[in-house]
Amino acid sequence: MGSLTPSDDRTLLVLGSGPGIGRSIAGLFAARRYGKVVLIARRAEQLRVEKEALERAAVDVTDTEALLAALDDADALFGKPEAVFFNAARVLPSAFFEHPVEDIEYDLKTNVSALYNVAQRYVPHLVALGGSGPSSRPALIVTSSALPHHPIPQLFALSLVKAAQRNLVQSLHLSYAPQGVHIGVVNVGGPVSPDHELWNPTNIAEKAWGWFEGVEPKGQSFEVVI
Ligand SMILES: NC(=O)c1ccc[n+]([C@@H]2O[C@H](COP(=O)([O-])OP(=O)(O)OC[C@H]3O[C@@H](n4cnc5c(N)ncnc54)[C@H](OP(=O)(O)O)[C@@H]3O)[C@@H](O)[C@H]2O)c1
Repeated sequence: MGSLTPSDDRTLLVLGSGPGIGRSIAGLFAARRYGKVVLIARRAEQLRVEKEALERAAVDVTDTEALLAALDDADALFGKPEAVFFNAARVLPSAFFEHPVEDIEYDLKTNVSALYNVAQRYVPHLVALGGSGPSSRPALIVTSSALPHHPIPQLFALSLVKAAQRNLVQSLHLSYAPQGVHIGVVNVGGPVSPDHELWNPTNIAEKAWGWFEGVEPKGQSFEVVI
């Protein structure tokens, strides 16, 4: 492929816009294709990305009502997105058995329930875009790690919710990639660092972009392993 062009009319929706993987992927994708970007994170001070056409909303994605209201606003302003980048997560230690069950439930809501809400809202729209011509490239991209396959006991809560999230994305891919939607997880195998050969923000963003523009959804792997 390699022929994707930027357009002021296209919108990228980013859920979980943070300084790590979030910014690197959102920044590169925005520069290469999307004239409009919607950023969602809990804290207003996180919501900084250099882009002219930008909508920001300080929303906790576990608050379904607030999330859907923010998405209503963004859709009204920019139109529904052509691509959704789901990156909301908190990377926190969780020790047996000091970790409260409420924190597991909160992380499950962030990584799984919120993703489900977003998929329920936008996948039918992305499917419709898939049939709308060769210049359209509908996508739902989720960030993940090696934790679904290799849980770290000191991060057991994040490990288990990431396993559930990966499973959900795989089911979505199996259902909707044949209908023309790019759906997949970007698995970063270790801590992001500017000095790391593989796990640096530039390489992660480039690998995600390579997956996105590489092949048609039905022949595409649902995982990018970095
Ligand atoms: N960083 C790493 O070393 C690393 C390595 C491998 C995989 N990963 C994966 O990459 C993804 C991103 O991690 P990251 O550490 O690089 O973070 P990041 O991209 O810097 O930002 C993630 C953002 O999600 C937002 N967020 C968290 N919970 C939220 C909620 N309930 N509602 C709305 N926004 C929420 C946070 O902003 P607010 O706090 O303002 O809400 C945070 O800035 C995660 O899935 C993580 O497992 C990260």
